[in-house]
Amino acid sequence: MKAAITATGKYLPPDKLTNKDFEKIIDTTDEWIQSRTGIRERRILKDPTKATAFMCAEAAKEVLERRGVSAEDIDLIIVATISPDMFFPSTACLVQDLIGAKNAWGFDLSGACSGFLYALVTGAKFIETGMHQKILVLGGDKMSTIVDYSDRNNCILFGDAAAGVLLEPAKDGYGVLDARLYSDGTAGKNHLYMLGSGSLNPPTHDTVDKKMHYLFQDGKVVFKSAVIGMADVAAEMMTRNSLTAVDVAYLVPHQANLRIIAATAERMGIGMDKVAVNIDKYGNTTAATLPLCLDELNLEGNLADGDNLILVSYGAGYTWGGVFVKWQSI
Ligand code: UT7
Repeated sequence: MKAAITATGKYLPPDKLTNKDFEKIIDTTDEWIQSRTGIRERRILKDPTKATAFMCAEAAKEVLERRGVSAEDIDLIIVATISPDMFFPSTACLVQDLIGAKNAWGFDLSGACSGFLYALVTGAKFIETGMHQKILVLGGDKMSTIVDYSDRNNCILFGDAAAGVLLEPAKDGYGVLDARLYSDGTAGKNHLYMLGSGSLNPPTHDTVDKKMHYLFQDGKVVFKSAVIGMADVAAEMMTRNSLTAVDVAYLVPHQANLRIIAATAERMGIGMDKVAVNIDKYGNTTAATLPLCLDELNLEGNLADGDNLILVSYGAGYTWGGVFVKWQSI
């Protein structure tokens, strides 16, 4: 028995940070940002009393409401994030409290931009073994708390959001049918990281002065790996599952850069009309990008029973992967 995605939901903070806003704080232009990345604006959670757990809980509430399921029916909550409210308790425990999922257990998963894919596959396995019937898989990041807004190379890329799905046992032939997940710490560890705040460089005045509590990315190097990695894994998912371009209803890619997304679509031989794109509105929301895309496709009524979806991601680690889902309309 496989796991079907039976509901989706999201939380988007109300405040927008546009490219024009960036023109006022760093040396950049709307034209540069749009042509290099595809991003026009992103959402920022300005309320300092609310963070990733709040956003994930709001997304979870929407998932439950859409499916008509009570929080008490949830068996497991998995939260993919690299910006947890705190190291512990886990964001999953905070979400459990906020939504009242008192019969669930849960944990956080750190997979950066591939976090949601890792969490989706992990959750699917608990359904496949028969251990659980209802699992919330959430991806959320308050990236604005780890972005250095004086670093023009990176600050224009990221936004805040959370989104998620409900996993339940699928009908025969439906659900999460195949996955390939990868990591390469050797190639990835020096190009996209946050040095401070962990046990290696615990916070001191010195680490803060050196801005070690902010993310660092060597964009050009990561871009080159991401273009190859995401396109390769998308092609691999098609080959492994004997899918041709016409068989694919939608490519649902991580939203880091429109040029990486377009290269992946080209490699698959599909047009951009079959690609979920919302990077223009939200930027890179790290663990939230894939479920955000899924939720938009779902809400707009674009997903039909039996549709073949290919989900792909690439991010810090490096981490990357692909998942093949046969969509089940409930
Ligand atoms: O989600 C995790 C995985 N992450 C990714 O997949 C992201 C990968 N990287 C990227 O998306 C792209 O590399 C960027 C969008 C970050 C940069 O695009 P690029 O085409 O690789 O630009 P570049 O790094 O080659 O920079 C070109 C120029 C540089 O100036 P010089 O050295 O040519 O004089 C930069 O200093 O653009 C400059 N630049 C900017 N100019 C205006 C860098 N940031 C900005 C900016 N506004 N915000």
